[in-house]
Amino acid sequence: MGEKRASLGGRLSAVLVAAGSAVGLGNIWRFPYVAGENGGGAFLAIYIGCILLLGIPVLLAEFTVGRHTHKNAVGAYRSLAKRWSFLGYNSAISSLLILGFYFVVSGWTLEYFTSSVSGAIAEYTSSTINAERFAAFTTDPMRPVIYTIIFALLTHVIIALGVQKGIERSSKMLMPVLFIMLIILAVRAVTMPNGLEGLRFLFTPDFSKVSAKTFLDAMGQAFFSLSIGLGCMITYSSYFSDKTNLQNTAYNVVALDTLVAILAGMVIFPVVFSVGIEPTSGPSLVFVTLPSIFNTMAFGPLWSTIFFLLLVFAALTSTISLHEVLTAYLHEEWHMSRKVAAWIVTIVTTLLACASSLSLGVWSDFKICGLNIFDSLDFVTANILLPLGGFFTSIFAGWVLDREILRDEISDHGRLKGRLFGLLVVLLRYVCPILLLSIFLYNMGLFRL
Ligand code: TRP
Repeated sequence: MGEKRASLGGRLSAVLVAAGSAVGLGNIWRFPYVAGENGGGAFLAIYIGCILLLGIPVLLAEFTVGRHTHKNAVGAYRSLAKRWSFLGYNSAISSLLILGFYFVVSGWTLEYFTSSVSGAIAEYTSSTINAERFAAFTTDPMRPVIYTIIFALLTHVIIALGVQKGIERSSKMLMPVLFIMLIILAVRAVTMPNGLEGLRFLFTPDFSKVSAKTFLDAMGQAFFSLSIGLGCMITYSSYFSDKTNLQNTAYNVVALDTLVAILAGMVIFPVVFSVGIEPTSGPSLVFVTLPSIFNTMAFGPLWSTIFFLLLVFAALTSTISLHEVLTAYLHEEWHMSRKVAAWIVTIVTTLLACASSLSLGVWSDFKICGLNIFDSLDFVTANILLPLGGFFTSIFAGWVLDREILRDEISDHGRLKGRLFGLLVVLLRYVCPILLLSIFLYNMGLFRL
C-alpha cells in the first residue's frame, strides 16, 4: 500500500464528520415512527437510557479501536486480535444490508424534495391524498428505483472525492445548516393548533404501552441512530488525528444526535396531532404527515423544500459513512484502488436497493420470514446485527483489548485525567453485554413461534 492514509483536520471536523454519520434518516424518519409505534414518551425515556448505558460505551470502544489502529474495521480487528476479525466482516455485511434499504428511503426524500421545488406537492391538500400519493409512489416499479439510483450516484461522487475533500467538507457544510433548519421548523410546528398535544405525547411517558419489543426497538434505534454496532465509527475514527479528544467527540456526537432526534419528534408529533393523523402509521409517517401541513402554511412549498432538502442532506452524510466502511475495506484489504473499490460498492449496494424498492410494490409477494425484502433488511440490521455487533464490541473492548490501549486512547494519551475510565470499563465489561444479551434473548424467546 505504502500511500499515506488520509486524516481529518481539527477537533471540530472529527465531531462534525462523526455527527454527520450519526444524524440521518434514523433521527428524522425512523425515530419518530418507531417512537410513535411504541407510545411516545415511554419510548423516549427507554431510548435515552439505551443511549447512556449502551450507546456511549460502545461508541467509545469503536473510537478506540479505529483511532488506535488507523485501519478499516476488518483490518482493525485483524491487527488487534485475529480471531475477532469476524466483527469486521459483520461490519461490512451490515453496511451493505443497511444501504440496501437506506438508499431507497433516501431516494424518497429526493423525490419529495424535487416535487417541493416544482410545486407539485402543493396539489396534495389532505392527509388522505398524501397517503395515497405516498403509497402510489413507493410501490411504483420505476420512479422510486430511479431516485434510489440517483441517490446512490450522489453518494458515489462524494466518496470518490476522497476522505478529506469529500467527506470532511460536505459534513462541515451540511451539519450546521441542518440543525438551524430543524429548529425553525420545530418552532413553527409547536405553535400550530393542537401542537402542544404532540409535545405531551413525546414527553409524557405512558409505561402501559411498554412491552419487551419496546426495549428491543429502543436498543435497535439507539444503535442505528448513533451509527454503532457495525464498525462505521471504527472506520471514521481511523481518520481521526492523535490529537482528537475521543471522549469529548463522543459526548458531542451523542448530544447532537439525540437532540436532532428529539427536535424531529418536536416537528412531527405536533403536526400529527394538529391534523389528526395516527402517530402509529409507521414508515410513511414523515412523508405523509408533513406535506399536507406544509400546504396549510404560508409559503408552504418553501417550507417543504427546506424540510426535504434537510432530509436529503441528513441522508447523504449517513450514506457516505456506510459506503466508506465498504470502500475502505475493499481499498485497504483487497488492495484495490479507491476508485474501483467505490464503484464496486456503489453497484452492489444499488442493485440490492433496487430489489428492496421493488419489494414494496411488484415484488411484495416475495417474503423472508413474513417480511418483504425492505422490511427484513431494516429489521435484521437494526434489531439483530447492530445490537449483536455492539455486544461483541463491548466484550472485545472490555475483556480482550489490552487495557492500556483503551486507557491510552480514552485518556487522550494520558492528557485527560478523569474518573470516568473506571465506569467505562464496568459498563463495557458487565453492563453492556448483560443488558444487550438479555433484551435480545428475551425478544428472541417471544419471537420464536
Ligand atoms: N446513523 C444513521 C442514521 O441515523 C445511519 C447510519 C449511518 C448507520 N452509518 C451507520 C446505522 C452505521 C448503523 C450503523 O440515519
